[in-house]
Amino acid sequence: MYIIRDAMEKKYKIITYGCQMNIHESEKAAGILEDMGYRETQDEKQADLILFNTCCIRDNAEQKAFGNIGAVKHLKKINPNLVIVVMGCMTQQKGETTIFKEKYPYVDIVLGTNNLNMLDTALTKVLANPKRKQYLIDPNDRPEIIEDERVYRTSGTNAWLNIMYGCNNFCTYCIVPYVRGRERSRSMEAIIAEFKSLVKQGYKEITLLGQNVNSYGNDLKDGKSTFAALLSELDKVEGKYRIRFMTSHPKDLSDEVIDIIANGTHLCHYIHLPIQSGSNKVLQKMNRHYTREYYLDRIAAIKAKIPDCGITTDLMVGFPYEEEEDFMDTVDIVRKVGYSSAFTFIYSMRQGTPAATWPQIPEEVSKDRIMRLIKEQNAMTKKLSKEYEGNTYEVLVEDTVEKKPGYVCGRTDFGRLVTFEGEPSLVGQFVNVKINRSQSASLFGEIVK
Ligand code: 5AD
Ligand code: SF4
Repeated sequence: MYIIRDAMEKKYKIITYGCQMNIHESEKAAGILEDMGYRETQDEKQADLILFNTCCIRDNAEQKAFGNIGAVKHLKKINPNLVIVVMGCMTQQKGETTIFKEKYPYVDIVLGTNNLNMLDTALTKVLANPKRKQYLIDPNDRPEIIEDERVYRTSGTNAWLNIMYGCNNFCTYCIVPYVRGRERSRSMEAIIAEFKSLVKQGYKEITLLGQNVNSYGNDLKDGKSTFAALLSELDKVEGKYRIRFMTSHPKDLSDEVIDIIANGTHLCHYIHLPIQSGSNKVLQKMNRHYTREYYLDRIAAIKAKIPDCGITTDLMVGFPYEEEEDFMDTVDIVRKVGYSSAFTFIYSMRQGTPAATWPQIPEEVSKDRIMRLIKEQNAMTKKLSKEYEGNTYEVLVEDTVEKKPGYVCGRTDFGRLVTFEGEPSLVGQFVNVKINRSQSASLFGEIVK
């Protein structure tokens, strides 16, 4: 690999939008840059390279990225050697390369979602000849998985681990299958090897990542590589650590997986299970392949086998054809399930998806619905938080609290954030914390022996 010999002082800044997958891919980009002799800076004026890792799941994420890419143009005047890189989901949309060529010609490198491993060669070319822009977008649906990735993880406690890439589900609102391609699973061997190495390095919580982890292995067609088998194998690795995973699609969440979580040693009692809508009519239009009854049956199975399980979800309002009674079905789900928290979104029209051609709901209706939904979920979160008061839970300390010197914060196994008095040296350790007080989603406590 090309190493910049006299570039020890070169600095990079990465700006990340979107989901955990993107956060982890930024760690991989950082790994490549660190190997090339670059070092991280938070100050973009100091940077020799600024990388935008973009998201296009909703229009506001995209507009924010475009705005910020526009805002660094002036930095090129101060530092003509500044290299600007744009990668991630936005770059893979149809016609996007033309937009960059025409509207953002000062962007030096554009990398598609499967071209991250080309960052070093693209950068080498641009450094040798700054006039030669590099647009590396992958038209291929099923590129090979690259296994020699260098990852620069910034947390010493929590690590992300990709188990698969892409999505086959084609929910009618969603751009992800178009920009990330079809499902491709890593081999169990590769995942287990990386997992063991993370445990050995001292990571205490490892989150398995995939757009739909429950369909892990379907594309490998070897009859052995399933999500249940993977979880069982990983759970056997010795050490004191936790395993989380996301995201589960309700249609594929099997009893076998629920049993493995219930009986596992390291598996967190936590499931993120996006329902999107509580209305069967809307679910069908969304192409979600389950009904509200089926979803509630999955929730009942989780609660029966893992009574202390933290359950969270994604909810969407304002999807085409959503009427007041459909929306009330979603509210009803929030009341019935008792999510510890929920990510709530207003449907955002994405060009190229089926729902973009359907009649759209007026913005004021969507806004009204989301406010009512958030209110509903906040009340539920508050109620559930109260139930934790007086109990003691094991917490993995993740960080110090910037605004509260002398305090640290961490998560319970079921995924709730707890703040308490403690030394910074506790970060990365498991401690028992008694919950004294709660305030909406936040829990406050004290360390007990
Ligand atoms: N508009 C709004 N929300 C969306 N999501 C996915 N696509 C869209 C869209 N077009 C939400 C879904 C998904 C989460 C990651 O983002 O709720 O679960
Ligand atoms: Fe998008 Fe649906 Fe795939 Fe999730 S499962 S990434 S919402 S298409």
